[in-house]
Amino acid sequence: MSYYKKSFLKLLDFTSEEIATHLKVAKNLKAEKKSGVSHRVLEGKNIALVFEKTSTRTRCAFEVAGSDLGMHPVYLDPKSSQIGKKESIEDTARVLGRMFDGIEYRGYGQEIVQKLSDYSGVPVWNGLTNEYHPTQILADLLTIQEHLGELKGKTLVFMGDCRYNMANSLMVGCAKMGMNFVASSNKKYFPNDELTSICKEIAKETGATITFEEDPIKAVKGADVIYTDVWVSMGEDPSVWDERIKDLLPYQVNKTLMESTGKETTKFMHCLPAFHDLKTEIGKDIYDRYGLTAMEVADDVFESEASIVFDEAENRMHTIKAVMLCSLVEDISRWAK
Ligand code: CP
Ligand code: NVA
Repeated sequence: MSYYKKSFLKLLDFTSEEIATHLKVAKNLKAEKKSGVSHRVLEGKNIALVFEKTSTRTRCAFEVAGSDLGMHPVYLDPKSSQIGKKESIEDTARVLGRMFDGIEYRGYGQEIVQKLSDYSGVPVWNGLTNEYHPTQILADLLTIQEHLGELKGKTLVFMGDCRYNMANSLMVGCAKMGMNFVASSNKKYFPNDELTSICKEIAKETGATITFEEDPIKAVKGADVIYTDVWVSMGEDPSVWDERIKDLLPYQVNKTLMESTGKETTKFMHCLPAFHDLKTEIGKDIYDRYGLTAMEVADDVFESEASIVFDEAENRMHTIKAVMLCSLVEDISRWAK
């Protein structure tokens, strides 16, 4: 298979079949873990986890998945390493490539994770860049399969900031898997033209559709999944909150929106972390400044039966395990059936 020894940088680099195989492998690894079957097939290998931005899920998923596979994970954050300040990405890549069998990277531009892969000589896994969050999408697709069955033909509506890593990657994931992707936002936040035309080309092959809709109520008609993400992403200047709240509040996922799909089975999804209450520092600060008790998702939707956000979070671990396994194990037939 072409993903053996290959980096996992963005979903555009993989065929629909390869994405489907990753999901199958993840499903089987999950079943093995649940029934206590060990899969320490990468014993003796070492992986570096480089985080230039903060993380709960992605870091824990890589650490737990790595350990479950028998590997030793080493966590590096920019404050306690030389990365960027005293040593270039090219040099860091060549050093890490001499010691580790694989490298996870979370940070800023997609070109950084690409460079790490080009220079290290070992598989590199994208744990989030400004442009893409591909391991999150695998978890999302697995979760949709578990709750709604086949992916093909399902409609996913993304509300809010549709021009950042989450919406970009979901648009690619939906196009690849023959799903209908709807981006709903103020025009300023629609995905960029270049990526949109690439996805529309893919969609022609897979039967997917890609549409943008400014009216949130129209957008969610027929939605199988309503998905949202934070309005200000990591690394963005906090001064943009003012404008984002003004522009994106009409796209908040609340009860009215969930009830406008015309379907009783619509699920709510979010990559997390989410601002749905006042139990966070930023949530409290936004409440003090704007009087909002929730942002991209109302608390009663987040906590509702329709919300499958914690299944998604768990699936980060199983899918990340599948990504590492597929790039480090030559014969994956045990899990790919
Ligand atoms: N969804 C996600 O990537 O979460 P973390 O930022 O906690 O890793
Ligand atoms: N768009 C968010 C995703 C977090 C998982 C961010 O980049 O901060």
